[in-house]
Amino acid sequence: MQAVELQNLSKIYPGGKQAVKQITLSLNQGEVFGFLGPNGAGKTTTVKLLNGMLIPSEGNCRVFNIDPVYEPEKVHAISGVVTEHAQMYDNLTGLENLIFYASIFGISSSESEKDANSLLKQLNLEEAKNRKLSSYSTGMRQRLSLARALIHHPRVLFLDEPTSGLDPESAQNVNRMIQLLAKNEGITVFLCTHQLRYAQEICTRYGLIEEGKLLVSGTLEELRAKILARITLCIRATKVPDMLSFKKIGDQQYEIDICSENEIPGIVRQIIESNGDIYAVSAKKPTLEDIYFALTSNAKEDLK
Ligand SMILES: Nc1ncnc2c1ncn2[C@@H]1O[C@H](COP(=O)(O)OP(=O)(O)OP(=O)(O)O)[C@@H](O)[C@H]1O
Ligand SMILES: [Mg+2]
Repeated sequence: MQAVELQNLSKIYPGGKQAVKQITLSLNQGEVFGFLGPNGAGKTTTVKLLNGMLIPSEGNCRVFNIDPVYEPEKVHAISGVVTEHAQMYDNLTGLENLIFYASIFGISSSESEKDANSLLKQLNLEEAKNRKLSSYSTGMRQRLSLARALIHHPRVLFLDEPTSGLDPESAQNVNRMIQLLAKNEGITVFLCTHQLRYAQEICTRYGLIEEGKLLVSGTLEELRAKILARITLCIRATKVPDMLSFKKIGDQQYEIDICSENEIPGIVRQIIESNGDIYAVSAKKPTLEDIYFALTSNAKEDLK
């Protein structure tokens, strides 16, 4: 059974804006799926459809085979959600908030207190746990919202920009935690983000969405093969033969785009045979960011 499934999913808001256009996609259990796209692409709308907060205009979606339109409470019982503006209670402490939200899922305070304390510790909120939420900073609230999403041991996590307000250290900590939840506990993660470098560190597969349409999905290697199958070879050498059409990018620094790693030994041999001394060779594959920009600009070209 797929953990999350979207079939021909579409959403037209009252007023006529089509925010999601016939998206078909599925996530295996334990996957950390990066759902990427520019502002207004339809990411949050998709998360809301998956949670039953919005009703599809066409198509359907399922979380462990449960349709959020018909059984939203069952979807909520097995999923945790972190949205951009998490609502919690300002007049309760961090710990009290977690215990309260656990009680909504029928977990007694004696049961939830241990988990709550452990989550607060993992998210570096231990010292603040007995302070009222009204005294929390934005980043602290965001971390507490992740703890809230995890308090009932969900099988799926929907994370909408979970690290946008976090400092680099907290963001790294949260990303590490997400990765471990997937790896050790088999939690499936649907992660909407603009932070492509973090996404590349933690996601196992990606979907790129623009103007409501899913442009492509796959692992980083699959996206490289489909979108940008070039490798940049960087060489530090005393000289390179002109016929190789290297670009000089600095003192004794040269770059050339190649199609396959198999070209590297031949290039190195040619440099040596032309009496060049080589000090360093490295091959750079396109990053997720490179692919994202190549794809979104291609999509714009296609629309012209
Ligand atoms: N309640 C609404 N009524 C009408 N249009 C809406 C509503 N919510 C969102 N939209 C529109 O739907 C489109 C998709 O919005 P959505 O919030 O899903 O994008 P997003 O990918 O989450 O963007 P961001 O990266 O800025 O969070 C946008 O054009 C937005 O203006
Ligand atoms: Mg959004």
